Amino acid sequence: MITIKNESQIEKMRKAGALLHEVLGLVREAIEPGVTTHYLDQLTERLIRERGAIPSSKGYQGFPYSICASVDDQVVHGFPNKEKLRRGQLLSVDCTCILDGWQSDSAFSVVVGGGNEKNQQLVDVTERCFWLGAQQAVAGNHLGDIGYAVQTFAESHGYGVIRDLCGHGIGTEMHEDPNVPNFGRPHRGVVLQPGMTITIEPMISMGTWKVWQEDDGWTIITRDGSPCSHYEHTLLITDGEPEILSYPGMKVSEVLK
Ligand code: MF3
Ligand code: CO
Ligand code: CO
Repeated sequence: MITIKNESQIEKMRKAGALLHEVLGLVREAIEPGVTTHYLDQLTERLIRERGAIPSSKGYQGFPYSICASVDDQVVHGFPNKEKLRRGQLLSVDCTCILDGWQSDSAFSVVVGGGNEKNQQLVDVTERCFWLGAQQAVAGNHLGDIGYAVQTFAESHGYGVIRDLCGHGIGTEMHEDPNVPNFGRPHRGVVLQPGMTITIEPMISMGTWKVWQEDDGWTIITRDGSPCSHYEHTLLITDGEPEILSYPGMKVSEVLK
């Protein structure tokens, strides 16, 4: 069931989104060669709890951590660990938090320490896929319009669009209806309405879109070992541009101008 959020619920989602944006900004600054994803997990949890929120991935269907930390060919749902990050590695950090009963979900990818042009281009294209998808996230449009925008841009660079995982509705639950695929056809699927809150989260591979799940029951990897990048925000559908709840003040039209 797709729920439409009212103004007071949206206000709570804005607060959760602003908190998550601030926290992930601080986590991003802490990423450098030599740091471990275990450290980033602990840092994230502390920053979230200090601000009165709860990391909602911890304990979610048994997931044990506050962030998903996915390196190189790991697509999503990677476990933080005590290995030191190395320069040029591709790291994705995905985090969901709950504040006053309302969720926010956001992810970003970075090239650790810089210096890897191919990985950096993948990160840049993945972010642009998000913004092109978000541009279509307007009341009256269909979910297929979002997926089509993401898919065509990614594939024009020769990249693969992960199919097995999608964006989603979000509210009091981390995952609500509808599913928000990163592929699709224009004018197909659910019609967007003001007050819907969804995530858009392209997962883009340098090679195949096909994935495996690792034996830990969580980590998703590309079948061909290609690096994969992820970028996600929580957004509110309106009659005009979507409001990026996990990136307060940022406008789609600013990014794409
Ligand atoms: N944040 C993820 C998403 O974008 C979900 C995390 S799964 C968990 O949907 F198990 F880690 F919580
Ligand atoms: Co997420
Ligand atoms: Co999500």
